[in-house]
Amino acid sequence: MKRTLILAAAMIGSGAILAAETVSSADVVYDEYGSIAASLSGTAGDPVNGIEVMSSRSQGNCVACHQVSDLSAAFQGNVGPSLDGAADRWDEAQLRGIVANAKITFPDSIMPSFYKETGYIRAGNAYTGKAAGDELTTLLTAQQIEDVVAYLATLKE
Ligand code: HEC
Repeated sequence: MKRTLILAAAMIGSGAILAAETVSSADVVYDEYGSIAASLSGTAGDPVNGIEVMSSRSQGNCVACHQVSDLSAAFQGNVGPSLDGAADRWDEAQLRGIVANAKITFPDSIMPSFYKETGYIRAGNAYTGKAAGDELTTLLTAQQIEDVVAYLATLKE
């Protein structure tokens, strides 16, 4: 009986964590240099998942443009600068801003905006000729951005 109660309490506790506020991409507050001070998901980032997001083609695929000595991805690009030592150059808020929308920190950058869903011209549903009905999505979720930022914060030289 006591065990059940403890388990129930633990489940309520984790529910509260899951319900942490996610900031929608339209509501993100950037400072004038492009930094985002507050977490986008309200949940601490997981650097191990950040590696997965950065290395996976279907997710961030950051290694297509960036070289990171710490990562084992076989093919790493040099379109962007190496991210080795990124945490020495940028603080967490700056890294979050760069990953969410690099174009604020680096105007005209070719780096994709991973947490932005406005400003795209969107094709309708060609089959029916109606506007696309599903929700607009960002390239990465709020939690994936936090996971990437948590990993980038470990890249010190
Ligand atoms: C299409 C290529 C491309 C992709 C994909 C890309 N970036 Fe970039 N990134 C760039 C370029 C180019 C710059 C240099 C800034 C500029 O455009 O002037 C940059 C700059 C950066 C910087 C600052 C670099 C420094 O150390 O000073 C960080 C951090 C960064 N990117 C992280 C990421 C992460 C994390 C991802 C994946 C979620 C990613 N980038 C995906 C092209 C890319």
